Amino acid sequence: MVRGPRLQATYEAPPNIALVKYWGVRDRERALPYNSSISVTLERLRSRTTVRFDPELSEDRVELNGAPASEGPRNGVVRFLDRVRALAQVTYGAEVRSRNNFPTASGLASSASGFAALAGAATAALGLSLSGRELSKLARFGSGSASRSVFGGFVEWRAGARADGADCYARPLYGPDYWPALVDLVMIVKGAPVKEVRSEDAMQATVATSPGYRRRLAELPGRTRKIRAAIGARDSRRLFPLVMDECDSFREVCETTRPSLDYLTPTSRALLGEVRALNREAGRPVAAYTHDAGAHMHIFTLERDSAQVRRRLARLPGVERAFLLRPGPGGRRVD
Ligand code: PMV
Repeated sequence: MVRGPRLQATYEAPPNIALVKYWGVRDRERALPYNSSISVTLERLRSRTTVRFDPELSEDRVELNGAPASEGPRNGVVRFLDRVRALAQVTYGAEVRSRNNFPTASGLASSASGFAALAGAATAALGLSLSGRELSKLARFGSGSASRSVFGGFVEWRAGARADGADCYARPLYGPDYWPALVDLVMIVKGAPVKEVRSEDAMQATVATSPGYRRRLAELPGRTRKIRAAIGARDSRRLFPLVMDECDSFREVCETTRPSLDYLTPTSRALLGEVRALNREAGRPVAAYTHDAGAHMHIFTLERDSAQVRRRLARLPGVERAFLLRPGPGGRRVD
């Protein structure tokens, strides 16, 4: 049962940005999404999490970025640990220390990196050696997008069709070095609002109230196939318009949710317009925007165009910072 004598492990995991968005859960109990999603795992940014189980501890201690976690995040971690304890058939309390090397409040997907790191550290601490696929199946119970952060490069999280979720897991499509010319220019916007509704609740409000949600679901298999094929051909001219269509579809169902989910600031919207103008003027898709449930923008472009794109976008009022990221490796044990 429990093999790891130290009951402690440290694991690092990266965030990812979705090209096909996960937004909507068909079975909350089993954490099964309505649709498959595709993402790029990002280099350099990391959550680093140490978990130590201790038979003497009656309560879990959770520290995030050097301070005791507030109630909401703490409950999420404790619920996740309960799942890992049930797997290993132990009842020990745990001490969890997690740190991001990027600002949590910046709205860059810290739930994906955080829960992938927690899944890796907690299972390793209890001596459970899970395959990448098993780890991705577990991580999604913390946050759906965490299932994809287990792997590097281009990753697909398959929704699967089975009611028991056996065919629902993430798998790597291509490794981090597959398309070296593709870069993600991350645009941090000033005054990005802190999320009022957690993603897992927000997406269910969309499922229940957005009139366009069914249509989105009907369109997704075709769009997902095309996006996979464009990545397969390393064809940015095909990929970029599809990525923007997908982002627009995601934003449309958010905005038509009741009450409306509006994640963008005027600066984010100006960035959308500027990317469209840039592509129009160039007569080709030079860049593609996408965003998560937040105001910051990810602008995909090719290395050779990145300086020009950056100059043009970074001068917009309200852009705080721009930095360039490439696809990066997935999660790994570091102790
Ligand atoms: O994994 P969650 O529950 O934080 O939801 C992620 C939702 C999006 O970031 C908007 C889309 C995605 O696929 O990452």
